[in-house]
Amino acid sequence: MKIAFIGGGAMGEAMISGLIRQASAEPEAITVSDVDQGRLRVLAERHGILGVAENRQAIRGKDIVVLSVKPQVLPEVTDGLRGEIQPGQLVVSIIAGARIETLSRQLEHDCIVRVMPNTPAQIGEGISVWTATRAVTSEQKEMAQTTLTALGKEIYVADEKYIDMATAVSGSGPAYIFLMIEALVDAAVHIGMPRKMSSELVLQTMLGSARIAEVSGKHPAELRNMVTSPGGTTAAGLLRLEEGGLRAILTQAIIAAYERAKELGKEQK
Ligand SMILES: NC(=O)c1ccc[n+]([C@@H]2O[C@H](COP(=O)([O-])OP(=O)(O)OC[C@H]3O[C@@H](n4cnc5c(N)ncnc54)[C@H](OP(=O)(O)O)[C@@H]3O)[C@@H](O)[C@H]2O)c1
Repeated sequence: MKIAFIGGGAMGEAMISGLIRQASAEPEAITVSDVDQGRLRVLAERHGILGVAENRQAIRGKDIVVLSVKPQVLPEVTDGLRGEIQPGQLVVSIIAGARIETLSRQLEHDCIVRVMPNTPAQIGEGISVWTATRAVTSEQKEMAQTTLTALGKEIYVADEKYIDMATAVSGSGPAYIFLMIEALVDAAVHIGMPRKMSSELVLQTMLGSARIAEVSGKHPAELRNMVTSPGGTTAAGLLRLEEGGLRAILTQAIIAAYERAKELGKEQK
């Protein structure tokens, strides 16, 4: 299976890295094109893949063409690729907001998978939500699913509307989690704990809590109650989080990201 990545930025590299490390993809089977020559050199050094400056050259003879550029440059990229993509080639777009109908019209191509991956893909711990057009064959769907499985978990949805929602939740999600990790580590340092120790405690607490929420099947409130003894330290900490509006602010963050994803879609029409 030969893959071309159009745009070798943060997410493109996360996928390339995941494919090589988790799915044992041959670096020779992956070509990346990017306007930034320095970036191509870095990707070639790090992953042993071929970098080319021309998008049209990159897609030649590939089974899958991944569009991994920022939404703002999508029209320029589709202008350059229009009429160049062969009917049998599968286009996989990871571009936030870019609707299938827009991609299909701009590329004059109807064999499209739209995915929302996330950056933990680079260590095989990502989660991707994806959908496919009717023209995508069952073999191509399988190929897409196998590729996404190498990056972590994957969820197929029949309705495209869930992709914009996933963009706000899991696509942007790692950034929210990293901000929380950073803030918790800084808070531990603030009360006098060494930074290295703070970091270890926060990370393992995040990992352990996520894991127990996953394996226990219990509602998060039940798990939270297990930590909260009457009149205790956790109750005191939780009260401050509620006073600070943690739930409301998280909801507002997800709504803001979702609205932005929909807006990006409208801008690209
Ligand atoms: N980052 C994430 O966590 C994440 C998660 C899910 C989905 N996504 C989606 O993935 C896409 C890429 O995001 P990213 O964070 O990887 O962005 P990024 O780091 O900016 O990567 C985009 C790359 O494409 C290059 N580029 C710009 N114009 C190009 C052109 N005409 N032809 C070929 N390459 C071109 C850019 O070069 P220059 O820097 O020189 O412009 C850059 O190296 C976005 O649409 C985003 O919505 C990202």
